[in-house]
Amino acid sequence: MMQATPTPTELQTAIAALRSGQAIGLPTETVYGLAADAENPAAVARIFSLKQRPADHPLIVHIAGAGQLGRYAREIPESAYLLADAFWPGPLTLILKRGAAVLDAITGGQDSIGLRAPAHPVARAVIETFGHGLAAPSANRFGRISPTRAAHVQEEFGDAVPVVLDGGDCQIGIESTIVDLTASPPRVLRPGRIHPEDIASIIGPVAVGAGDSSPRASGNLESHYAPVTPLHLVSREELAGNRDQPALTIGALPDNVNGIALAVEPKAYARELYAALRELDRIGARRINAELPPDNEEWRAVNDRLRRAASPAGSAPH
Ligand code: TXA
Ligand code: MG
Repeated sequence: MMQATPTPTELQTAIAALRSGQAIGLPTETVYGLAADAENPAAVARIFSLKQRPADHPLIVHIAGAGQLGRYAREIPESAYLLADAFWPGPLTLILKRGAAVLDAITGGQDSIGLRAPAHPVARAVIETFGHGLAAPSANRFGRISPTRAAHVQEEFGDAVPVVLDGGDCQIGIESTIVDLTASPPRVLRPGRIHPEDIASIIGPVAVGAGDSSPRASGNLESHYAPVTPLHLVSREELAGNRDQPALTIGALPDNVNGIALAVEPKAYARELYAALRELDRIGARRINAELPPDNEEWRAVNDRLRRAASPAGSAPH
């Protein structure tokens, strides 16, 4: 179960690994991150090589709170502080203009930076003890499903990442909401637990989805977060009529259909989704049939992840 804080020994081991330029598996409330010193070029390079991530994909820097914004961003708008006040620590990433000292490798050469203060007590303890920002993409190889358990991180990287802090199952289970505050109006680039309406209630109108001039976000690639087994989004009727393939359903499985039944409530569904996709992948079926959720705001973030998981791998990244 979720550990409230790392033991002193675990914390010491993690900090020593980070100080020596290693990457560690770090639990956050959204998904597990592959964390390294955001100010050490060799450590940041290590993240890219472990993930096999293209160099032009920027990393989120995880900080303790709004007090560290100025270390990594410049010309910070009032809206950043208002959102940090409302939602940090928590599952919201702010895109701001990058600070002068930020490494190019972090930003993918762009003029912006992604910053987030995670809420998970283990992440908070590590960041506070370490003293400055940790670059941490989700701890999966590029294009694969994000990990929501310590064991998933071990599955992805094995001995290449010897230190993985176990913070239990991630309570949110899908990646943070990303809002671009360099755009006018601000833009939600990646949907998550914090909805556009939540953000708008603090800072006024926001746009949703990438605009023409939006910074690149790897979450914007068509095929992303994908299981190895082809995933098809189908109606409940279709899935009930196809007993040969494992199903991922919203609520109970239909009679004589195998697979995994997830929660009917979208937040609980999101929490269980990635572990279920990993589990279904292990079966080695020809395809997975996933029940199409309702098309509404409550399900937006889940629908986004399912749509990406369902795209055939390799389909036209832009
Ligand atoms: O919940 C999360 O955000 C997790 C946990 C570990 O914090 N992290 C995460 O990182 O999902 P990653 O690297 O897998 O996805 C981060 C997204 C990517 O799509 C990246 O392109 C985008 O954030 N991003 C980072 N910096 C950016 C920037 N300067 N401009 C635009 N997008 C940026
Ligand atoms: Mg990721």
